[in-house]
Amino acid sequence: MKQTLIIDVSPRGQESASRKVASKVEARIQAQYPTAKIIRRDLVRQSVPHLDSVTLKAISTKDAEESQRLKESATLSDELTGELLASDLLVIATPMWNFGIPSLLKAWIDLVVRPGKTFSYTQDGVLGLAKGKKAILVLASGGVFTEGPWQSWDFVEPYLRKILSFIGIDSVQTVRAEGMNIPPLALNAVSDAERVVESLAI
Ligand SMILES: Cc1cc2nc3c(=O)[nH]c(=O)nc-3n(C[C@H](O)[C@H](O)[C@H](O)COP(=O)(O)O)c2cc1C
Repeated sequence: MKQTLIIDVSPRGQESASRKVASKVEARIQAQYPTAKIIRRDLVRQSVPHLDSVTLKAISTKDAEESQRLKESATLSDELTGELLASDLLVIATPMWNFGIPSLLKAWIDLVVRPGKTFSYTQDGVLGLAKGKKAILVLASGGVFTEGPWQSWDFVEPYLRKILSFIGIDSVQTVRAEGMNIPPLALNAVSDAERVVESLAI
C-alpha cells in the first residue's frame, strides 16, 4: 500500500458517524502500512465547486489547443484526479442525505470521473482506467437500509458501487453506521461499525 485517499463529506465534525468510522479505517491503515501516505480530503473544509461551463469544457475537450488554452480551469480536477489515480485504496465516508449522497460528494465525483483520465469509451464499450484499486464505503444513515422496508430507498451504496465500477474499481467493501436516528440502534451503531472495520480486507 503506497497511498490511501479518504474523502470526508459530513459537515458534522466530531459528531459525524461517517468521520468517526473513517478515522478507524485510517488508524488501521496506519498500523498495517506505517509507510503509506494517507490523504484525507475533507470536502467540507476545502470545498469543491460544481462544474461550470468553462471547467466542463476544460476537462472534456478533445481539442489539444483548446485544452492548452483552458488548462488553468482544469487545475483542481487534475489535482483531484491525480490524487485518486495515485492511490491504491479509496475510502469514501459519507452520510445519506435524502436517500442519496450529499451534492458535495457528487461535485467531487463530477470532477474525477473524466474521459481520458479515469474512463474511456472504446469500440467494446466503456473502459475503466482507475484499475487495481480497492474502495471502502463508510456510510452513515438515520434509518436502516441493509434490511427491511427501506432497503429499496438506498440510492447511496448502489450509486457509489456503479460509478466506481464505471471507472474500473470493482473491489468495494461497505461499512455502515445505520439507525443513527433510531435511539436504541444509534447507541451502538458507530462502535458496531468500528468493529466491522477490524475485519475488512485491507
Ligand atoms: C439533510 C439531511 C438529510 C438526511 N436524509 C436522510 C435520509 O434520507 N435517510 C436517512 O436514513 N437519514 C437521513 N439523514 C440522517 C443522516 O444520514 C444521519 O444523521 C447520519 O448519521 C449522517 O452522517 P454523519 O453522522 O456522518 O453526518 C439526513 C440528515 C440530514 C442532515
